[in-house]
Amino acid sequence: DDEQAGGEEYLFKVVLIGDSAVGKSNLLSRFATNEFNQNSKATIGVEFQTQAVEIDGKEIKAQIWDTAGQERFRAVTSAYYRGAVGALLVYDISRKTTFDSVERWLMNSPVLLVNWGYDCELPEKAVLRMKPNFMLEIKLMDSHCDTTVARMLVGNKCDLEDIRDVSVEEGKSFAEEHGLFFMETSALDATNVQEAFEVVIREIY
Ligand code: GTP
Ligand code: MG
Repeated sequence: DDEQAGGEEYLFKVVLIGDSAVGKSNLLSRFATNEFNQNSKATIGVEFQTQAVEIDGKEIKAQIWDTAGQERFRAVTSAYYRGAVGALLVYDISRKTTFDSVERWLMNSPVLLVNWGYDCELPEKAVLRMKPNFMLEIKLMDSHCDTTVARMLVGNKCDLEDIRDVSVEEGKSFAEEHGLFFMETSALDATNVQEAFEVVIREIY
């Protein structure tokens, strides 16, 4: 590709994470190619797409990594958080369980701890907490991503208002508590899709 006029190139890595079937792949296809797939298949492992966005007259390239939400891919996908400077944590407003999972997506699973062993050095920003349900939790985003990572909580499928299971307030207050941006989107009717990606990319830039 052509170099920028100023000779500078901006390439940012952004990850899409969240439970299976919340609409991560469709958010990306809506954003990148304005497409929606009613019968999309579950993502296997990780896929990425690069999308150019113009912000303040500068072309920014966002490399968006779409990860599989299925539990069995968890070990694979978390490896791809490295180097990410933005993250969209997605849930489905019509399925409360996907919202309840968001907290888990923010944290590490004990698997990584086992891989690290006891006497390894922890990243500077890792936060360790004892929890009744997990032996030990480590804040995943802080330990795997750049410390200035811009995170947004995304309540997708807001077109499904009649079967809403998570209120806007619940989403908002969770986001506030955890220092995340918040937006409700619909990959189906394109509500806020461009906006959600742009807020994250703008924040990084
Ligand atoms: P994994 O790859 O398994 O992690 O799932 P995913 O999060 O990528 O979900 P995907 O984008 O494949 O969408 C799952 C289903 O939800 C598909 O049937 C989509 O058509 C549907 N879907 C996605 N976004 C929306 C939306 O905004 N509104 C509605 N009504 N359906 C949506
Ligand atoms: Mg997918």
